[in-house]
Amino acid sequence: MTQLDAAPAPENADCAGCCTTGTGTDRRAVLRGAAAVGVAGVAGLALAACSFGSSSTSTASGPTTLGPTSDVPVGGGKVYKDDKVVVTQPTSGQFKAFSAVCTHAGCLVDGVQGGTIQCPCHGSQFKIADGSVANGPATSPLPAKTVAVQNGKLVVTV
Ligand code: FES
Repeated sequence: MTQLDAAPAPENADCAGCCTTGTGTDRRAVLRGAAAVGVAGVAGLALAACSFGSSSTSTASGPTTLGPTSDVPVGGGKVYKDDKVVVTQPTSGQFKAFSAVCTHAGCLVDGVQGGTIQCPCHGSQFKIADGSVANGPATSPLPAKTVAVQNGKLVVTV
């Protein structure tokens, strides 16, 4: 018992900053419950506790109207948090859409600046032209989505 209490808690470095359970009490409760299961159980439960952020994503799959094209500046973009989509306009009249879920650890990107899409959790940046990684720690591009303009509005297939 004492040995388990003194054992270092498993950490998920990929999840730091984007995966919290709200209080330290929750984590301790998870660890206490897992003590009976063993070390492998601790890791499994800790990862399970970290998975809420990405497992509760929307399952909408049809076309979604986001808003007017004027919301997306040339050379910039806009994050539609509710739809988990970021739309960019690398050059005038050319719109691109990507998943707003960071490929590093699942945080939502939160802005577009200086030609890149920014993730607030660990600083990854993605190019507005194609969603590719401009700065890590992410190593994979943001997945592209289909975007069209209909009657002056952006319509994306999520
Ligand atoms: S979740 Fe780590 S950089 Fe985006």
